[in-house]
Amino acid sequence: MEKGYRIAVVGATGAVGTKMIEMLEETTLPIESIKLLASKRSAGKTRIFNGVTLTIEELVPDSFNDVDIALFSAGGGISKIYAPEAVKRGAVVVDNTSYFRMDKEVPLVVPEVNPAALKRHKGIIANPNCSTIQMMVALEPIRKEAGLNRIIVSTYQAVSGAGAKAVEELKREAKEFLAGKSKDELDPQILPAGSDKKHYSIAFNALPQIDVFAEDDYTYEEWKMINETHKIMEDDAIKVAATCVRIPVVSGHSESVYIETKKEMSPQAVKDLLAKSPGVTLEDDPSQQIYPQALNSVDKKDTFVGRIRRDLDVKTGLHMWVVSDNLLKGAAWNSVQIAETLHEMDLVRVPK
Ligand code: A2P
Repeated sequence: MEKGYRIAVVGATGAVGTKMIEMLEETTLPIESIKLLASKRSAGKTRIFNGVTLTIEELVPDSFNDVDIALFSAGGGISKIYAPEAVKRGAVVVDNTSYFRMDKEVPLVVPEVNPAALKRHKGIIANPNCSTIQMMVALEPIRKEAGLNRIIVSTYQAVSGAGAKAVEELKREAKEFLAGKSKDELDPQILPAGSDKKHYSIAFNALPQIDVFAEDDYTYEEWKMINETHKIMEDDAIKVAATCVRIPVVSGHSESVYIETKKEMSPQAVKDLLAKSPGVTLEDDPSQQIYPQALNSVDKKDTFVGRIRRDLDVKTGLHMWVVSDNLLKGAAWNSVQIAETLHEMDLVRVPK
């Protein structure tokens, strides 16, 4: 690619779309042009890209006539309709929604973990769920070294994962609560899940529901972590259980991860391994109170791992604390990194 790629961001005004634009400002990808797409409501608004003012356009099928790579983050319904339209017009789609993730024809990729899956793409590549991505970055080096029998994860997820409006909801509720309103006067409209029947306050709260409930009383978010782990690690035998919890943090998902490996590995060996693993920053020194924190992860591309310690009862059991910026590695950065990897592997084309 001599001149560079023509890139579109779908959902350019959203929590993730805004971060995609920032990641594209920093990318090593050669860029010829950037097109910002959103709903009719946003058409005509402007955004600065590397000092240049760009005007947001309304998303229509023909938006993709002159696009090589389209990054989607405008909700599953939009991806369902417009991703195939983009591919039809010759664009390779990196989709941040859950819509295509479990489609057998669609690679689900974390570049540090399974870049080879990109070779099978037919035009659409799915970006995994934010909580899954950071867990995969932390666990893949351990899986390669010692095998993995079981994962039990509890998440502490930030509100920005539910979109820009959910962040506004948290801030409004927090202000109102501190100004003296009671919890029953906060009038939540979005969380825990915009499409569900009831809404609960997130300010000063913890909600054990992310997305709506599905089979066996697990939420979809929990099923995403289970199914996507199997697909990315290409191993359905790994036992996975997840409990996903929303907490009143703006950005940065935290996870308490318990694993059982096939071969015993000491906590020190895990630390040494993760210290040199791609995309991981080890922050683990209890004597100095060093461990990953959500606030410190914001605007960083890495996944931070700490509190690595052996289970007291199971010989092959290990506990750890895994933190990453859900809008970056969990979404925008992973998507742009997929585009960079496609470029490096000469795969930015829709196969005939
Ligand atoms: P808009 O701001 O014009 O509504 P978030 O995940 O933060 O909620 O953001 C959702 C993103 O998806 C926004 O950029 C939003 O644009 C975009 N979006 C929502 N509905 C549509 C639509 N019908 N067509 C195009 N973009 C849409």
